Amino acid sequence: MDVMVIGGGGREHAIVSRLARSPRAGRLYVLPGNGGIGRCAECVPIGSEDLEAIVGFAVERGVDFAVVAPDDPLVMGAVDRLEERGIPCFGPNAAAAAIEGSKAFAKGLMRKYGIPTAPFEVFEDAERAMAYIAAANRPLVVKADGLARGKGVVVAEDADEAAAAVVSIMKDRVFGRSGDRVLIEERLRGLEVTLLAFTDGRTIVPMVSSMDHKRAFDGDAGPNTGGMGVVAPNPHLTPELMEVCTRTILRPTVEAMRAEGRPFKGCLYFGLMLTEDGPQVIEYNCRFGDPEAQAVLPLLRSDLLEIMVAVREERLDEADVRFSQDASCCVVLASREYPGSCRTGFEIDLGGAEDLPGVEVFHAGTRREGDRLLTAGGRVLDVTAVAPTPGEARARAYEAAKRIRFEGVRFRGDIGGVDGEREKVF
Ligand code: AMP
Ligand code: GLY
Repeated sequence: MDVMVIGGGGREHAIVSRLARSPRAGRLYVLPGNGGIGRCAECVPIGSEDLEAIVGFAVERGVDFAVVAPDDPLVMGAVDRLEERGIPCFGPNAAAAAIEGSKAFAKGLMRKYGIPTAPFEVFEDAERAMAYIAAANRPLVVKADGLARGKGVVVAEDADEAAAAVVSIMKDRVFGRSGDRVLIEERLRGLEVTLLAFTDGRTIVPMVSSMDHKRAFDGDAGPNTGGMGVVAPNPHLTPELMEVCTRTILRPTVEAMRAEGRPFKGCLYFGLMLTEDGPQVIEYNCRFGDPEAQAVLPLLRSDLLEIMVAVREERLDEADVRFSQDASCCVVLASREYPGSCRTGFEIDLGGAEDLPGVEVFHAGTRREGDRLLTAGGRVLDVTAVAPTPGEARARAYEAAKRIRFEGVRFRGDIGGVDGEREKVF
């Protein structure tokens, strides 16, 4: 089975490295790929939003199966376009991808089906949004409705900051049309959990839970980023809480999407907060998390391609989905200026990091120039270690991370915290 994966970051490297292990996998193509993916697949220089070229390539090469990994092509309808041309896909169609593509849709769904989430209002008019903020006497979060490359959320300290967010989203249009509407919601308090789950629109099978570290610097300081590191499983999600999540959030979401005529097939991402009132949904994504996938997929013991095909064929209930009991830790190696705009093109010396036991180095922003490996983005490499305990996984990931050199390399020193414990917020 020849497989095409759309995307070119660390998440796609983690996905491809698992697909490459499947006995059913034939040729593997990644569009566009990066400087590391070429070791396990053929990288094709077609951008992940160039739907015309993607479909053309798939048809010309007779690709048997496609995995659309990033949010933009999913929301733009890449799966619809490929399926129309007879190419089976792993990933939601555009109607289902709206669960990430429109926060107003996602929040409306949760309200309608009683799925726990922060109370909210949607505004299409900046003046009304400002009036609401002025009248509200509690901490608020302001979100652009559409996709904003992970930057469209402002957790406001006070009313002035919330109002400034409305101005930049709706008036200055910093996220373009994603700011046609804003969503203003109550600020929740608690620890965050990511749950990735396979679903075929009926059955939902959660993967190992994980914990992202979104802030740029140690101690959760600095600006929000796409994610600076992940541990899996999430140390705060007890089996009891997992049962509550499945009953009140996971299953109701899959059922709600089906009832709306938008059955979701693919990987559904639940960004949850464990609040005093129980787990609540902070956000849904229509795809694997990045860098969550780089911590979670190395724990998968069964065949990823078989699972993805089973999702597409709506027989996930028969699929073999097993995870190891080990723990993993993924440390993101970033360029000095990240999350600002970064200088790139620096040579990378991996220093034998990949030879350490249980370690895999996924490439995010890298490219090859002849024999040289160069930096090509803000998040450059994702170093994952798997070990029997969280402490060993963390120690191994850091041992590997410290071997890698490039100009301006920077990573957080506290992924997983001390013994996987972080400050309790409530
Ligand atoms: P999102 O892009 O929706 O995941 O938001 C980015 C980050 O903002 C989340 O990971 C949370 O840390 C924070 N956040 C979003 N919504 C809320 C909320 N209602 N209350 C508290 N924090 C939030
Ligand atoms: N790590 C957060 C995300 O993938 O959206």
